[in-house]
Amino acid sequence: MSKVDLVVSGGTVVRPDSAAQGDVVVVGERIVDVAAPGRAPSATRVIDASGKIVLPGGIDAHTHFLIGFMRQRSVYDFYSGSIAALRGGTTTFVDFALQRRGRTMLDGLKHRRAQADRQVVCDYGLHLIATDINPRSLAELPALITAGVSSFKVYMVYEKEQLKVDDGPLLELMRHAARHEMLVGLHAENPSILDHQTAACLAAGQTAPRYHALSHPPIAEREAIARALMFAEEAGAIVHIFHMSIGAGVDLIAAARARGVRAYAETCTHYLALQDDEYERADGALYVMSPPLRRPADRERLWAGLRDGVIATVTSDDASYSAEAKREQESSFDAVPNGVPGVEARLPLLYTLGVAAGKLSLVQLAEVFSAAPARLFGLAPHKGAIAQGADADLVIIDPERRIRLSAASHYGPIGYTPYDGIEVSGLPVVTIRRGEVLVENGNFLGREGSGHYLHRQLLASLLPADGGPAR
Ligand code: URP
Ligand code: ZN
Repeated sequence: MSKVDLVVSGGTVVRPDSAAQGDVVVVGERIVDVAAPGRAPSATRVIDASGKIVLPGGIDAHTHFLIGFMRQRSVYDFYSGSIAALRGGTTTFVDFALQRRGRTMLDGLKHRRAQADRQVVCDYGLHLIATDINPRSLAELPALITAGVSSFKVYMVYEKEQLKVDDGPLLELMRHAARHEMLVGLHAENPSILDHQTAACLAAGQTAPRYHALSHPPIAEREAIARALMFAEEAGAIVHIFHMSIGAGVDLIAAARARGVRAYAETCTHYLALQDDEYERADGALYVMSPPLRRPADRERLWAGLRDGVIATVTSDDASYSAEAKREQESSFDAVPNGVPGVEARLPLLYTLGVAAGKLSLVQLAEVFSAAPARLFGLAPHKGAIAQGADADLVIIDPERRIRLSAASHYGPIGYTPYDGIEVSGLPVVTIRRGEVLVENGNFLGREGSGHYLHRQLLASLLPADGGPAR
């Protein structure tokens, strides 16, 4: 072979079935080979990865960059969010396009692409947040598919924010999505339980952050997941539970699969790393997200679900409201903007709490970090694996380097991280997107607007037809 563009040499290369020493060979934007150590052709650039681990670039299937929510705006836009993602070893994300009520889905997609395309540095896709299900919007599904959208997010809550979709329209959307093999993902909580408990807390003067957790009890999530799975079974739809926080959810997904439902779920880094006693802290408002942090037993059940393949992937659900914005509203839990930042911390936390703690193998890490979301959200085979012909999206991590996470260790002026004080290893030292080194030792080297919008495929060809795991 004549001279190639890039060789990542001597690292432990994590492929779909193995983690072994090898040399990743890159020509242009693609991986052309994984050679035995020392057997790669000569290259214009060689990155020495000895003593390091080479993973497929991460896919974070749930980010909220450039978002306005509960009267606050995220710190990250698509440019700064991309930089944070790349520093954390994530080369692709799937964010959201919002259909506003009274408007079309395609309008929402067009608007979001105009925002993202000029800024984005990662490659990216968009889930469509459906808020207005009617004959006109349902007729848009083929056009959405043509525009590269293979998945919806539906909120079963948040009426005040004009996001909530009721059961009737949700079931109807599922029936239509099923016909087109599109996935319907849910923010699954029961709004009546949330509203009732919130009102009761506020009436009793219970406004501290701990009441956020108490007014979003596990039963509210459990009931909504069960309902969504039942609807999916009835409609024959592919269903996905976003940001699943409860251990009981794992059992519900497993049981639905056993009935043949094509049911999938993600959990988030914060549910795997943190627990509900954070709400007792003086700065407990910083930990307000929905669903809220849960008990240690839930956390352990989520880890087991991840290991067993019931939970397909771990996302950050990055929602980067600043510490200042969260604190401004801390006098009443229901006014605190929901969500926490985390896109940059996802990999070191998964490595440290998963691999180094003996809960996940390196191959399982690559699955939940990249391969499974690639399949589930229609990005495979170009994304998600170190394989011949795939995009050269790679992250090299150092299993030996340790740091303590803090606001200062993260990109941008957010002013806090929910993972403050956690010591991690497995930090990304080099992140490569389509053959281009974009981050080296934390320094961003890329160009605004150089990311690609990804036309995501329909799911039928990527997922097992029997409701089996996405991996
Ligand atoms: O609290 C959360 N999860 N905020 C972000 C919005 C959402 O529901 O994903
Ligand atoms: Zn949500």
